[in-house]
Amino acid sequence: MSSSKSLNILVTGSNGQVGRELRELSKDYSYNFFFTTRDNLDITNSEDIKHFIESNNINTIINCAAYTAVDKAEDDELNADLVNRKAVKKIAKISQELNIKLVHISTDYVFDGKNFKPYTEEFQTNPNSIYGKTKLDGEIEMIKINPLNSIIIRTSWVYSSFGNNFVKTMLRLGKEKQELGVIFDQVGTPTYAKDLARAILDILPNISNTKVEIYNYSNEGVLSWYDFAKEIMKMAKIKCTINPIETFQYPTPASRPHYSILNKSKIKNKFNISIPFWKDSLDECLRALGERK
Ligand SMILES: NC(=O)c1ccc[n+]([C@@H]2O[C@H](COP(=O)([O-])OP(=O)(O)OC[C@H]3O[C@@H](n4cnc5c(N)ncnc54)[C@H](OP(=O)(O)O)[C@@H]3O)[C@@H](O)[C@H]2O)c1
Repeated sequence: MSSSKSLNILVTGSNGQVGRELRELSKDYSYNFFFTTRDNLDITNSEDIKHFIESNNINTIINCAAYTAVDKAEDDELNADLVNRKAVKKIAKISQELNIKLVHISTDYVFDGKNFKPYTEEFQTNPNSIYGKTKLDGEIEMIKINPLNSIIIRTSWVYSSFGNNFVKTMLRLGKEKQELGVIFDQVGTPTYAKDLARAILDILPNISNTKVEIYNYSNEGVLSWYDFAKEIMKMAKIKCTINPIETFQYPTPASRPHYSILNKSKIKNKFNISIPFWKDSLDECLRALGERK
């Protein structure tokens, strides 16, 4: 928690998972928040963004808005590119011109998932989906424009008590079905959006750099989707058998990385933050959902 009063923060896409968690946490921080949604501030409209920033004296932006429909993006590159690259380019340009600190969120999907040890921020990117490509292109635009004191946070497997996500899908299906097949040959680490939101708010006053820095953030630990589903059922006391299946048995339009583990040393060392273990965060989220007493 910080006592900084001078931060006027624009949060875009605040109806999304990370945006909603930021909204919930905002009361614990003495920053001035301006939460916007697609309805009242479309990030593809740079005129509106600029006007909003100037009218409200914004000096910090947390960009939670994104085109996140991974499978849909395979047939909708134009729109994914519009939000994930072009809009980020415009926001970065405005941030650079008006000296605004920009925190932008990106994804593990910038990697191809063929690695065998946790991805560092410097590791060669090679997205294998349109979504991943457009998110990487957004990163590249932002790095090129280089707004001062700005960062990109790459995260993975985001879930929350808000919005649609794997945890909520498993809870629903687990109650409807007696058995479910869940992929065991894709490993990564979930990120409880509330933990990510808190990390962003905690580090915000200490972000100071002349070149855009990339940081990885997820919860701690390593697991497959199968392990995740098993633990959700166990914690929520749902009697549904989870069977391990391979990726080919659950075909999707976009291909997902088999290995999505992010090395988080950089953000932990730089900002001296500790990151919760995935099971502890899952427990917290299930309690927030009323699925665990
Ligand atoms: N979800 C994941 O598993 C995951 C994994 C890795 C990285 N990330 C990244 O983390 C960030 C936050 O993700 P999230 O899970 O919170 O996403 P989310 O729940 O899908 O939220 C994204 C929000 O952006 C809004 N949005 C879309 N286009 C917009 C536009 N043109 N102008 C303004 N708002 C717009 C959406 O509004 P509508 O609801 O109206 O569409 C939605 O509220 C994103 O950058 C995402 O790429 C997510």
